[in-house]
Amino acid sequence: MKIKNATTDHPIQKFLSERWSPCGFEDRPVSNLDLRSLFEAARWAASSYNEQPWNYLVAARDNPAEFERLLSCLVEANQAWARTAPVLVLGVVSLQFQKTKKDNRAAVHDLGLAAGNLSVEATVRGLSVHQMIGIFPGKAREIYQIPEHFEAWTAMAIGYKADPATLPDALKKRDLTPRQRKPLSEFVFEGHWGQPSTLALNKGS
Ligand SMILES: Cc1cc2nc3c(=O)[nH]c(=O)nc-3n(C[C@H](O)[C@H](O)[C@H](O)COP(=O)(O)O)c2cc1C
Repeated sequence: MKIKNATTDHPIQKFLSERWSPCGFEDRPVSNLDLRSLFEAARWAASSYNEQPWNYLVAARDNPAEFERLLSCLVEANQAWARTAPVLVLGVVSLQFQKTKKDNRAAVHDLGLAAGNLSVEATVRGLSVHQMIGIFPGKAREIYQIPEHFEAWTAMAIGYKADPATLPDALKKRDLTPRQRKPLSEFVFEGHWGQPSTLALNKGS
């Protein structure tokens, strides 16, 4: 699937350029061995005050009742494609520091960082992760009895990406569209807001 590989302006690691978010997944389970390593990678993410505010609820398709429960926490547009994934994960963030009970302003940032670690580990193992903000946090709270000060924030579909040729047209298009990004000059500034850093103006070395 070279069409999805990042066309980079500067060299980056292969496992970063080859990561992308598929909508189609092969009908192939993910081993518990791999899943454990994915969560282990999340576990070792950095976090503010080492609070580790991430928590996960997992459901695999080989347990249809559990899978349906987790699937029902996703918005319909996400359910449409995520139902083919062998594994769904709900990311639940602890919004307060456990010791002080003060708000943790970095909590969602750190949930994202853990998701980044998990995705990198997945890519290296030949797996793909598609993250989702389109969930029903209230429904998740109800179904899983998520306590106060914790909130379901994102979900992830994990599995082996399918050959887009085998997918229905709508998904095929998404999984065949090349990925695009803003250039560095639009988000790396120097001197004052909006002024591209000289770093961003030099391509190559
Ligand atoms: C926090 C987060 C939330 C996302 N939410 C959704 C979502 O609800 N539905 C969806 O189809 N994709 C979702 N995505 C996937 C993005 O659309 C995707 O990462 C982006 O278009 C870049 O594509 P790439 O991951 O293939 O590089 C989300 C990604 C992230 C990181």
